[in-house]
Amino acid sequence: MDQGIRPPSITLRLADPDDYDPIIKVMDDWWGGRRMTIMMPKLFFTHFRDTSLIAVMDAERVGFLTGFLSCSYSDESYIHFVGVHPEFRKQGIGRALYQRFFRISEQNGRKVVRCVTSPINKSSIAFHQHMGFQIIPSKDEFEGVPVHRGYDGPGEDRVLFLINL
Ligand SMILES: CC(C)(COP(=O)(O)OP(=O)(O)OC[C@H]1O[C@@H](n2cnc3c(N)ncnc32)[C@H](O)[C@@H]1OP(=O)(O)O)[C@@H](O)C(=O)NCCC(=O)NCCS
Repeated sequence: MDQGIRPPSITLRLADPDDYDPIIKVMDDWWGGRRMTIMMPKLFFTHFRDTSLIAVMDAERVGFLTGFLSCSYSDESYIHFVGVHPEFRKQGIGRALYQRFFRISEQNGRKVVRCVTSPINKSSIAFHQHMGFQIIPSKDEFEGVPVHRGYDGPGEDRVLFLINL
């Protein structure tokens, strides 16, 4: 059983190319109607299968994480996206996905995990803080949170997170 998930029938497995279509079909809904799929290329489900995860209950995909081991920084890994079905939130699935990714990272000699989120995504910021991530300081702030202006291109500000494993 995966540690910490309260519905015990939920299990985690590595991602597969066949997961791509079902995940992008629900992704915008899971993000409250924001247009997110454009930022989720299939490559995560083909070339990063060993570091991307699916949470499953009764054959239904109720959560996912896409991430990779950094090619440029041998002690770091990176989480690109995490999403949990709205009806299954606050039950430890996000935490379990992160903890599994942390374990895979450690097994591959990684000591630091990084990720970013949009400053408007308050629940993501809260989730990452609950998970023990620190926010990387910036000279700019949005509603009291340090943001890196234009980090992902013009107008695409980001909050940057880091955790030491
Ligand atoms: C962010 C998200 C993945 C969290 O998944 P989850 O399964 O609900 O999270 P968990 O139940 O594992 O919660 C882990 C911790 O984060 C906290 N947390 C989760 N969502 C929270 C929220 N909206 N506000 C405050 N705290 C929150 C939990 O209380 C828990 O902390 P605790 O263990 O100290 O009590 C989920 O809300 C989601 O899919 N959101 C939409 C997609 C998104 O924004 N993804 C993140 C950006 S890529």
